Formats: sequence, C-alpha cells, structure tokens
Amino acid sequence: MKLLTLVASKRRKGNSAITAKLIEKFAPKYEITTSTEYLDDYEMLECDGCMSCVLKNKRCHLDDDFYSLIDKISSNDLFVIVAPTYVLSIPGALKTFLDRFLLFLPYYRTNYGKLGGSIGISSLKDWQHFELPFLNIMLLSLGFNVADSFMLYGAGPGEVLLNNKNEKRVEEMLFNLLNKRELNDSVISDKCPVCYSSVFEYSDGGGYLPFLQNKSKEKERWFFI
Ligand SMILES: Cc1cc2nc3c(=O)[nH]c(=O)nc-3n(C[C@H](O)[C@H](O)[C@H](O)COP(=O)(O)O)c2cc1C
Repeated sequence: MKLLTLVASKRRKGNSAITAKLIEKFAPKYEITTSTEYLDDYEMLECDGCMSCVLKNKRCHLDDDFYSLIDKISSNDLFVIVAPTYVLSIPGALKTFLDRFLLFLPYYRTNYGKLGGSIGISSLKDWQHFELPFLNIMLLSLGFNVADSFMLYGAGPGEVLLNNKNEKRVEEMLFNLLNKRELNDSVISDKCPVCYSSVFEYSDGGGYLPFLQNKSKEKERWFFI
C-alpha cells in the first residue's frame, strides 16, 4: 500500500511535520510505503469563481500547482492530512486548496473506496471544533472514507512529542487505515462518526450537522447555564 501524508504547516520542524515523521517511522511495520508532501511547496491560487469547470467542464485556468498536488494525492492508496489549527479551524492555505473542490469530482471517482485519515494539531483542547470536520470534508470530497481522525496537542515546535501516548496513537492510525471498521448501524457518540464534527445545531428536537446535513437524535437533555 502507498500512503501520502500532506503536511499543512509552514513550520518544517513543527508538530505537524514531526507527526508526519512518526507516520514514516511506523509505516514499514505495516508494509506501507510512505511519502510526505508539504503544502507550502505548492503554489495554490484562490478560486476566482469563474465556474468554467462546472459550466464548461474545462480544466482550471489558474496557473498553479493544483493539479500537480491532486494528481499526487490520487496516485496513492491511502491519504493522511496533518494540519495545525488556526483560529478553531484549518489554516488558510489548506482552505484555499479545499475551495477548489468543484475540480475534485473526477478525483472523487478515482479515489472512491480508498481510505484516509486526518490529524489536527492544536494548543488548546477547547479551541479546535472546526478542525477535524474541515479536514474530513476534504478527505470525503476527494473520495477517501475517513478511517481515523483525531487531535494531538502541542503549541511550540516539538511539544507534540511531550505526551508519550501520541506516538502510539499515530501508529494506531496506520492500523486503522488497513483495518477500518464498517459503520453498519446507528452509533451513540458525541461526534459525527463520518466527519467527526462535535458541532451540532439544535433544530426540530435533534442535532443538525452542518457539515454533512444529517441529523442526530437527542438522548439526553441539554442544559444551558
Ligand atoms: C495563526 C495561528 C492561529 C492559531 N489558532 C489556534 C487555535 O484556534 N486553537 C488552538 O488550539 N491553537 C491555535 N494555534 C496554535 C497551533 O495550532 C499550534 O501551535 C500547533 O502546534 C502548530 O502546529 P505546527 O507546529 O505543525 O505548525 C494557532 C497558531 C497560529 C500561528
């Protein structure tokens, strides 16, 4: 199996880059061949909304590295994104790539049925709620089912290594990428089992998930203080 890890931080020795190195370290044990790409090495221009890709089925006219990156991602069997949290969510450069999602469709077909994973890095446990859902929307819209998705915590470069459980958790992701459990039934969880969002909107007596437009039923009453 070939796995590509995309690092979406400019810090070459930061926590996301270190996490990618942990993936490289454990991959041979699972007979996975890995490569790591840094988003910062790719020029990514903003979608200008011309709609030629949708209305005229045309290749994007923006002259940048979009196709080079998406071709590389899609030539692998497995795909993992590792990204820092910036203001509760993904960094702007990664959002710029995601905003080109109207061009993802042919790649969705190529990647359909493949598995992916996401690792978000943040410094604070309560300031990260949009990170994993955005990372996973990217995986899902590129055709990858989410086999595993979790946060690691650390602020300064290298801090992610201070918790000795983190290495084990990264290794566990590789196992899960090769052995994903199927979702056959409803689940009781504080997170959406598909996009991992813990952000719900309360409407019509249940929780509405803005990311996937699906609903959850309330099991306990909520109290607002
Ligand atoms: C512009 C900026 C915004 C940030 N916003 C958040 C945030 O909303 N929540 C949080 O927990 N940490 C936030 N952080 C901290 C980073 O997520 C944290 O330092 C992380 O380890 C960076 O990963 P890296 O070393 O891979 O770049 C922010 C950092 C920067 C530079």
